[in-house]
Amino acid sequence: MKKAVTRRVRHAVDHGLPGGIRAALSELRRRTVFAYGRPLCSGYRMRQRYDDFADWYHTYVTSGVGEWFARSADRLLAQFLGPGDDRLCLDLGCGGGAHVPALTSLGWRVIGVDISARQLHIARRTGLSAVVGSADRLPLADESFDAVATIMTTTDFDDLRLVFAEAWRVLGPGGRLVVVAAHPCFGGVFVERDDRGPCIVHPGYRRHQRVEEHPLLGDGIRSRVGVVNVPLPVLLNALTDAGFVLQRTAEDDSGQPVPPLLALAAIRPSR
Ligand SMILES: C[S@@+](CC[C@H](N)C(=O)[O-])C[C@H]1O[C@@H](n2cnc3c(N)ncnc32)[C@H](O)[C@@H]1O
Repeated sequence: MKKAVTRRVRHAVDHGLPGGIRAALSELRRRTVFAYGRPLCSGYRMRQRYDDFADWYHTYVTSGVGEWFARSADRLLAQFLGPGDDRLCLDLGCGGGAHVPALTSLGWRVIGVDISARQLHIARRTGLSAVVGSADRLPLADESFDAVATIMTTTDFDDLRLVFAEAWRVLGPGGRLVVVAAHPCFGGVFVERDDRGPCIVHPGYRRHQRVEEHPLLGDGIRSRVGVVNVPLPVLLNALTDAGFVLQRTAEDDSGQPVPPLLALAAIRPSR
């Protein structure tokens, strides 16, 4: 079924048949799982998924195509987090610890949390202190961090409102949250990117939903673990609803004609 639908979409794209794309996409739409208020994907399933692909993903972000994104993300972190001066930063959804060297080189002491034990096994090889846990229910004390950084995770978390509420809880007053994310407008599931310039946004941009199968997921990590499509207002409102004050935003400096990453810096206001 999936292959047949994928073939139809490919054919429709190759032959410029918008009706064909619509029909094929509506078939796929029935096979996606919706967000907020409904179980998108259990923590167990997510853990399993990244466990199965942890080694593959680590190679992808440290020496594969994803390394380029990782370094762009590191530059955004440096811009928005600034010097750590030995203060404590939570790397939320730290994965295999790809951004730990950037964080420590800024002078932050880092603790990682991730739902995937296999990812953390890899992260600990970098010397990172890390705990298995879900970002929407952190096994960490109130007001225990000076900063929280979360990188390339917003399209993995099922309920951003809960995750940002937890980030707010573990940050001390005046603490900073930095989010580096797949750009909701130009890096989402329904966006067909072309490195030479054009970027086609297919119908679906407005939907906040987990997508398990879609021809635009490509053959990277997303076709393996799925992805949550997060429209821009969902991302920003989740942040402000949790009580954060948005301070700065930036897109990556990669030189690509259309930016694939968006970074946000927000503060938990002092009492
Ligand atoms: C795309 S990877 C990014 C990893 C790392 N931040 C990086 O940039 O290399 C997304 C990570 O989010 C983690 N994740 C997904 N859902 C999570 C949850 N509810 N709580 C904690 N981590 C979660 C996954 O296990 C995975 O390691």
